[in-house]
Amino acid sequence: MAGFKERVFSGVQPTGNLHLGNYLGAIKRFVELQSGRDCIYCVVDMHALTAQLYQPDLASQIREVTAAFLAAGIDPKAHIVFNQSQVSAHAELAWIFNCVARLGWMNRMTQFKEKAGKDRENASLGLYAYPSLMAADILLYRATHVPVGEDQKQHLELTRDIASKFNNDFAAPIAERGFGEGFFPLTEPLIGGPAARVMSLRDGSKKMSKSDPSDFSRINLTDDPDTIAQKVRKAKTDPEPLPSEEAGLAGRPEAENLVGIYAGLAERSKEEVLREFGNAQFSAFKSALVDLSVERLGPIGSEMKRLQDDPGYIEAVLADGAARARAIAAETMAAVKDIVGFVRL
Ligand code: AMP
Ligand code: TRP
Repeated sequence: MAGFKERVFSGVQPTGNLHLGNYLGAIKRFVELQSGRDCIYCVVDMHALTAQLYQPDLASQIREVTAAFLAAGIDPKAHIVFNQSQVSAHAELAWIFNCVARLGWMNRMTQFKEKAGKDRENASLGLYAYPSLMAADILLYRATHVPVGEDQKQHLELTRDIASKFNNDFAAPIAERGFGEGFFPLTEPLIGGPAARVMSLRDGSKKMSKSDPSDFSRINLTDDPDTIAQKVRKAKTDPEPLPSEEAGLAGRPEAENLVGIYAGLAERSKEEVLREFGNAQFSAFKSALVDLSVERLGPIGSEMKRLQDDPGYIEAVLADGAARARAIAAETMAAVKDIVGFVRL
C-alpha cells in the first residue's frame, strides 16, 4: 500500500507439535521474506490460551517455536522475534478492535465454528475474539504483508475490514493528525506456493494439524530421520502411479499432498516434480521424498534441540525482540489513543 513502509508480520501459536505444514506454509516463507524487508515474527502465546487454558508446558512450547524460527534461519538481530504476552499493547489494541468488529463479521469466522464444534455455548469468549486479537497483532506494527497458510485467509480479510472501518469511522481525527491515507494499512496476505495447505499423511481431506491424535498424520520438526522415514513410508496413497501432469492429481488428494510437500521442500513447482516423477510408483517417489525430507528437516530439528538446551539464549533473544517491538507498539498506541479521543497524561 502506498504511503506505508513495507513491513512483514506473522505469528505462530506455541501449542506444541510444530509440523511440516507450519514449516512449509509459514516458517520457511518467513525466512525467505527477510531479505530487503523489516520483519516481525511473534510467538503468539496469548492466542494459545484459546486452544487450552492450562498448558503445563506452555513456557517450553514458547521456547520451542522460538527455536524453530531461529533454526529455520530467521535472524533475530536484523529482524524482531518476540512473544506476544511481553508487549501488553496487543491486548490494549485488541480491546479497541473488539469495539470496531461487528458481531455479524465474527459470526462468519469458519475457524471459530470448527474449533468450537457442537458445544458452542461452552467455547470461550477468547476463542470467539481470537481474530480481533490477530488483527491487533498485525496492525499494532502497521504491517503491510502477512505470510500465512491458507487456513488464515479469512482472518486476514477480517483484519482488512477492521482497518478499513477504523480508518473510516475515525476519518476526521486521522486526517487532522496528517495520516492522509488512513491510519492503518490494508494488509496484504501472502499465501501461496505448492504447500500453502499441507494435508494429513493419513487422510488427504484433513489439514495436517498439531491437534490430530495420530502422530503418523504429521511430520514434526523435531522428528529424527528414522521417524520421518517411517511416517513418509506409511503415508496413505492410492494404487495408481503418479501422473505426469498436474491435472492428473484431480481427485487424488493423497497423491497431490505428497507432490505438494516434495515441491515445497525442493522449491520447485508441482508441475516440475511431476515432470521428473510422472509414471513413477509411489514406492520410488516415497524414497526420494524421505531423502529430501531428511536432508531439509534434519538440520532444523537438530538445531532446534541444541537451542532448546540453552533456554537462557532463547529468552535473551525474546527479551531483546520484545523491547524493540514495544517501542514500535508504543508509537502506534499513542496515535490510536489520540485518534480515539482518550486523554493521554
Ligand atoms: P498455528 O500453528 O495454527 O499457529 O499456525 C502457524 C502457521 O502455520 C499459520 O500461518 C498457519 O496458516 C500455518 N499452517 C498451519 N497448519 C498448516 C498446514 N497444514 N498447511 C500449511 N500451513 C499451515
Ligand atoms: N491465527 C494464526 C494461526 O493460527 C496465528 C496468528 C496470530 C497470526 N496472530 C497472527 C498469524 C498475526 C499472522 C499474523 O496460525
